[in-house]
Amino acid sequence: MNTKDSKIDIAVQLLSNNELVVIPTETVYGLAANAFSELAIEKIYKVKNRPQNNPLIVHIASIDQLNIVAQNVPNIALKLANHFWPGPLTLILDKASTISTKITAGGDKVAVRIPNHKTTLELLQKLKFPLVAPSANRSNHISPTRPEHVLNSLGNKTPYILDGGSCTEGIESTIVGFYENIPHIYRLGAIEKEKIDALLGVSSEMIIETDKPKAPGMLKKHYSPKTAFFTTNNIQFEIARNSDKKIGVIYFCAKNLVPNSPFAFRVLSEKGSLKEAAANLYRYMHELDELELDLIIAEQLPNEGVGASINDRIKRASFI
Ligand code: TXA
Ligand code: MG
Repeated sequence: MNTKDSKIDIAVQLLSNNELVVIPTETVYGLAANAFSELAIEKIYKVKNRPQNNPLIVHIASIDQLNIVAQNVPNIALKLANHFWPGPLTLILDKASTISTKITAGGDKVAVRIPNHKTTLELLQKLKFPLVAPSANRSNHISPTRPEHVLNSLGNKTPYILDGGSCTEGIESTIVGFYENIPHIYRLGAIEKEKIDALLGVSSEMIIETDKPKAPGMLKKHYSPKTAFFTTNNIQFEIARNSDKKIGVIYFCAKNLVPNSPFAFRVLSEKGSLKEAAANLYRYMHELDELELDLIIAEQLPNEGVGASINDRIKRASFI
């Protein structure tokens, strides 16, 4: 047995005993529990300080397991699953009777995905049950893309961490539900709306935030750093306007850097790749948040593909 195997085996044991384990995924780290144990599910809400009305995503090992957790799966959902799984796509489906309403916040729909991370796929294959796993941060904080982010956010409540390095996508999964054969996007994430529409040959509906959101991820303010934070499409102006403050700036790409350098800054992608920008976003938000700044300003990205998902996150993180 090599070291990596034994770590997975420890995780198997803990999860089988209704304990929580932090798991790596391609999007963000997850705080995982046995999806078939209400006792374990309750621990997640406690550790995250998560409101009970925010449902959890069920993670399965393979598409064969879909019918254990969901039923009446529409053909377009299967088409998306076959194309994008394992990967950062979460489907909202009718729940099977195996799924506790503690997972679905009382509702009859369940969110499901197969994560694309070698370690976690191995873990899921060894388990006799699926895993529920929200992002491994305290409720409303920035999602973790590295093990130290989990420790910073959960502190002494942090359970055993399976270290899987940096998350390659760096932004949460895209959440898609279905209504009369039209896909509805509840949360934009690592998979672009354009790719979903191209595969299905339809234009999916974007579910706009409301006062009573279907998913708390749709709440206007979410994923916030501790430091005052806002986003702009005129970074030069905002740097000049806040020159009396200790500011940190998150630039999209190198060509946007302004000469009057702020106190601290990060560039999401030197060459302007949206994918690379997504992979770095939360890491840089965490890093700047540690610097005791007066203000963090994030530059808006081109509003296309994953750029739209990043803009969504930085808008929700904003205080104004
Ligand atoms: O990438 C991801 O999805 C990560 C990794 C760990 O898989 N997980 C994640 O979980 O982001 P969490 O709990 O932080 O966000 C899950 C989102 C929430 O906004 C929740 O409201 C929504 O999924 N959700 C879960 N079940 C739902 C349901 N039945 N109907 C509508 N939204 C649901
Ligand atoms: Mg989350």
